[in-house]
Amino acid sequence: MNASIDDLVTQARVAFEQATTPADLENAKAVYLGKTGRITELMKGLGALSVDEKKTQGALINKVKQGIEEALQARRMQMQAAELERQLQAEALDVTLPGRAQHKGGLHPVSMTMERIERVFSSMGFEVAKGPEIETDWFNFTALNTPQNHPARSMHDTFYVEGGHLLRTHTSPMQIRHAVQHVKRHQSLIESGQSMPEIRVIAPGRTYRVDSDATHSPMFHQCEGLWIGEQVSFKDLKVVFTNFCKMFFESDDLILRFRPSFFPFTEPSAEIDIQFASGPLAGRWLEVAGSGQVHPNVVRNMGLDPERYIGFAFGMGPDRLTMLRYGVNDLRLFFDGDLRFLHQFQ
Ligand code: FA5
Ligand code: MG
Repeated sequence: MNASIDDLVTQARVAFEQATTPADLENAKAVYLGKTGRITELMKGLGALSVDEKKTQGALINKVKQGIEEALQARRMQMQAAELERQLQAEALDVTLPGRAQHKGGLHPVSMTMERIERVFSSMGFEVAKGPEIETDWFNFTALNTPQNHPARSMHDTFYVEGGHLLRTHTSPMQIRHAVQHVKRHQSLIESGQSMPEIRVIAPGRTYRVDSDATHSPMFHQCEGLWIGEQVSFKDLKVVFTNFCKMFFESDDLILRFRPSFFPFTEPSAEIDIQFASGPLAGRWLEVAGSGQVHPNVVRNMGLDPERYIGFAFGMGPDRLTMLRYGVNDLRLFFDGDLRFLHQFQ
């Protein structure tokens, strides 16, 4: 019997070794040390023994119990050490990994161009006006001397929205919107026959057309310019636009060409091309804007008398100006959202 009691320690140790989780270990412990466990049963058996036998048997059982408790404790420590090791492995830091850089945000190259345009024209005394991208047929076409079925409309195919609205195809509707507000503000002066302060404004913003190639994107930007007064001439347009280009490109090494063209809302009309005398683009003419003297019908739609008020307008493409300034050869790169491309402008 004593031999089998001694064996209990070995049995318990094996059972504890086989337990792989703390819960398993608690179950194995209960088999030996629990209320109905083997040791408890042996203790109960002592009652039937003589005083002497109790002494020796009791001492033996206590020794075995102690042995089992030691084995249990040893296994617990082993499990805790293994668990700690597992956690250390799982949460290990590889200090040799490269750090994660914090990237600074920055303005989109076209936004930088827009801000530049606004700064240059503000310095020449132009206001900056902004207007809706969803326009009415009236402001986008009809008020600009381009009635229904006018052939010029076919070059401005766009996205139509319910209710007769459309995504504006150019910033020219801002000519009418801004002039009408201006005229309203100075109505009493105009009615009493006095001179109205000149209209001198630019209107930058997004525009839309059914277009897509290396120099045309379906969403693009334009910046309108308008100067209306009593003495404003084509010469003023040339001076303003030439100064603008020199300031924008920070170069005196460029020439402008006003190439005869047609727009329903200007007469005469000209495309403005620029050429650089030096640099990678030297020698090539590049179209940057449409322009012209505002058509009398358009002046009338502004609420002004075309016999008295005259002026010019232009509409340029800031996306193309950005291409020229940074030497980018495909305009669509600006709108692909590829950060590797955009980071180069920071
Ligand atoms: C116009 O849109 C006229 N509203 C310009 C104008 C204003 C003329 C005032 C007279 C008086 P045009 O379609 O040529 O004209 O466009 C003007 C400029 O916008 C072009 O020179 C070009 O730089 C730019 N542009 C036109 N379409 C696109 C496009 N799909 N993607 C990028 N830029 C474009
Ligand atoms: Mg054009």
